[in-house]
Amino acid sequence: MNSSASPAVTDRLDVSKLPGHVAIIMDGNGRWAEKRLMNRIKGHQAGAEAVRSIVRTCREIGIPVLTLYAFSTENWQRPEIEVATLMSLLKKFLDSERNEMIENNIRLNAIGQIEKLPEDVRVALQRTIDVTGKNKGMLLNLALSYGGRAEIVDMVKSIAGKAIDGKMEPYSITPEIVADHLYTRGMPDPDLLIRTSGEMRISNFLLWQIAYAEIFITDTLWPDFGKEEFIKILIDFQNRERRFGNVR
Ligand code: IPE
Ligand code: IPE
Ligand code: MG
Repeated sequence: MNSSASPAVTDRLDVSKLPGHVAIIMDGNGRWAEKRLMNRIKGHQAGAEAVRSIVRTCREIGIPVLTLYAFSTENWQRPEIEVATLMSLLKKFLDSERNEMIENNIRLNAIGQIEKLPEDVRVALQRTIDVTGKNKGMLLNLALSYGGRAEIVDMVKSIAGKAIDGKMEPYSITPEIVADHLYTRGMPDPDLLIRTSGEMRISNFLLWQIAYAEIFITDTLWPDFGKEEFIKILIDFQNRERRFGNVR
């Protein structure tokens, strides 16, 4: 696994111009395994190692918020054995990384339909969220059983409920109020969205929040994604001109 980066690359990174929020669609575990004539499961195991390395890198560099797309609402349709393996890897990750998150001042949060996760995963998740709750060094946001459309539906339900109860005036709803009713309430929108494995699509990820994210798609398959490439992407991000609809 690529866990180190050459000083030549690291030196070009301007630590005063880091994205406040990086979101990653971690794709390509299955293809990584298939290329090696291995079962897809092996790809997910290797993918979990890449997660560890990228979390560590973000913490080291000083990225304030990292959101990782680990399991989508659509991923429930995969074969039962693959879903079960992903769930067991998730539980393993939560149990094995809990102490490191505490030591490295990382706060864990989850976004998605958490109630759909198996009981043992929910317990491990809640434990990690609870013990890291006061950490301020970095927010690690795991998108689990997450779908952007489901999130928007949940937001509409909660706003509509308040309107019916007379707690909210429908005609005074603003983009800020909408954002406040999403799973990501209180977090800045992603500045940088990375997708591995070369697919040019969003796959139902953070549909509202990525309105002005800079997008970077790499052909690298997720298990091969490491620190050096991540830093190169951050440098590319720092050289982009963000306009937000305005003129220069
Ligand atoms: C990403 O890798 C992991 C999840 C979606 C859970 P994939 O399993 O989608 O790998 P590919 O796209 O089949 O290569
Ligand atoms: C997106 O990858 C979901 C995650 C990375 C968790 P998929 O592999 O599920 O997306 P599609 O099917 O290629 O759009
Ligand atoms: Mg995929």
